[in-house]
Amino acid sequence: MRAVVAGRLRCASCGAVVPVSTALSWRCPNAVGGDRHHVLMIDSDDAGGEFVPDDSDNPFVAFRRMLAWDAFAASTGMSDDDRRSFIERTDDLVASVAGTGFRFTPVAREFRLSVELGFIAAGGVWVKDETRNVAGSHKARHLFTELLHLLLAESHGLAPWNSATRPELAIASCGNAAIAASTLAAAVRWPIRVFVPQGADGAVIDTLVTLGATIERCPRRADDPPGDPCVLRFRERVAAGAVPFGVQGTENAWCLDGGRVIGWEIVHQLGRAALTHLVIQVGGGAFAAGIGEALMLAGSTTSLVAVQTAGCAPLERAWRMAASTGGTAHAGPRWNECMWPWGSEPASLADGILDDETYDWVGVCDAMSATRGFPVVSPESDVVAAYAMAHRVTPIDVSPTGSAGLAGLITLRHTGVVGNDAQVGIVFSGIRRGVDLPVLR
Ligand SMILES: Cc1ncc(COP(=O)(O)O)c(C=O)c1O
Ligand SMILES: [Zn+2]
Repeated sequence: MRAVVAGRLRCASCGAVVPVSTALSWRCPNAVGGDRHHVLMIDSDDAGGEFVPDDSDNPFVAFRRMLAWDAFAASTGMSDDDRRSFIERTDDLVASVAGTGFRFTPVAREFRLSVELGFIAAGGVWVKDETRNVAGSHKARHLFTELLHLLLAESHGLAPWNSATRPELAIASCGNAAIAASTLAAAVRWPIRVFVPQGADGAVIDTLVTLGATIERCPRRADDPPGDPCVLRFRERVAAGAVPFGVQGTENAWCLDGGRVIGWEIVHQLGRAALTHLVIQVGGGAFAAGIGEALMLAGSTTSLVAVQTAGCAPLERAWRMAASTGGTAHAGPRWNECMWPWGSEPASLADGILDDETYDWVGVCDAMSATRGFPVVSPESDVVAAYAMAHRVTPIDVSPTGSAGLAGLITLRHTGVVGNDAQVGIVFSGIRRGVDLPVLR
């Protein structure tokens, strides 16, 4: 794959440029007050030649030289060896809590799934099993670059705190992101507050409590403006000094850095031209934005396809709005015309992708535009069928959100958009959590 280095952060909406050496550069400097129609995206420069990964089974080490974090660390004068061992030491701490550090997760052609979906031998379905990643989903990848950034800023005196006076981390989530954030926080003994819906219960909350997170329940208050009360409370806390430690580029751009690692990993494992399509489930959009950017930077020929459910599809609407207002690429300056909350109450078995706004829609639309990709909206029947099929024909204990990429592929096969000779990648991105969720077959 092509070698790149991160040069700077640039707001996709207003164009503000932030040097990659800037510590704690979570948000665009113009994203003031409650305005979140800004997102800093990583602007990379060609480094010349082919990329040679570092020799390591840890993808953050292997692809380190393309990370914005590595450019940030280099700007402090840290040596190449020190940068590598900083990642390895932090990974060891993660492993001590999570039971595993970051390792390449498996990807393979799933024979039975390929047969089930009517593919011929030349085509098929390749499944990347992210249920084996740290904290059971891909989310920890996004958060690991935020953590590395925090630890580096702290250890180099670039943050207004020290290890004894750390501000709380904050995240609004009641799912995989909260578990991943609380796992990484526990690994470095950093206090974290998780903002969850008032009635949240079950396996996720139990896990968060075990990990030592402070849970804050968020009922809607009479004087609240529209929007998710968990996000409102989260933002208030961040305004009061907490560190945004979530998986939305609009709240913390550094999640987008680590989100690319899974994409580079896939290209490295399978090759640049092995897949015709990569079908990725979209909630807030950081996942697809990261994978898509990695494909673009690696010079891959794979098309990014973004899946949402019929119960909540603001990205597909934004794609259409962008197309009719000047084009699907670089639509950030047209934010108000393209992206707004979904309106009707979002609902689906894939409840982890019901974000009523696709915060990272610009990155996803840019990547779909550059890779000749497109969005797909799956009917709920395909979401249910995908979850059942995943459990019937694969050994992976995936959640309905984690199998939603398969739902997108089922929809594409039903409608004939993807032929039986296509080579399609999907990511089973999250593990099923305990007894809450029965397996359908
Ligand atoms: C298992 C799983 N897959 C995919 C996603 C979607 O990621 P994003 O919100 O970045 O679009 C989520 C988000 O919660 C998830 O938990
Ligand atoms: Zn901006």
